[in-house]
Amino acid sequence: MQEQVIKGKVKERYGSITQPGSFESVCGTTECCCGSEVFSAVQMAKKIGYDTKELESVPESSIVGVGCGAPVNFADIKEGEVVVDIGSGDGIDVFLSANKVKDSGKVIGIDMTDQMLEKARNNAKQRFRTWNSKKEI
Ligand SMILES: C[S@@+](CC[C@H](N)C(=O)[O-])C[C@H]1O[C@@H](n2cnc3c(N)ncnc32)[C@H](O)[C@@H]1O
Repeated sequence: MQEQVIKGKVKERYGSITQPGSFESVCGTTECCCGSEVFSAVQMAKKIGYDTKELESVPESSIVGVGCGAPVNFADIKEGEVVVDIGSGDGIDVFLSANKVKDSGKVIGIDMTDQMLEKARNNAKQRFRTWNSKKEI
């Protein structure tokens, strides 16, 4: 498959996941790795390793539960560091990383799906109450 075709399919797939109710239509189908049982996005996030308390610290709409694990658990992120999340989706790991780097650090989320970026930006506005025009989101 050519590179552009693959990228188009990835964007189409993840673009559709941003639509309300779309997660439930993925989970429980033959595409799902969990068999026929249906889980919510939050339940799925817990199953793949996210901590309940940490999930409470991020906007609920950033939790899509389609990742492959909870990478922040393994990254040993420290205050003041700069974190780059490639394939950041709705931003869950960006927000969890922001909790760790605090105000002296920086987190950059990169995603190739426009709908994901749009949702992540809205989630960021919700998460960072002190957000102002000087901060790029
Ligand atoms: C499985 S989702 C994970 C989203 C998020 N990290 C999470 O755990 O909820 C993968 C994301 O990676 C993005 N993606 C896939 N390939 C990419 C690439 N080559 N460059 C940038 N983003 C990419 C997709 O658009 C999608 O939003």
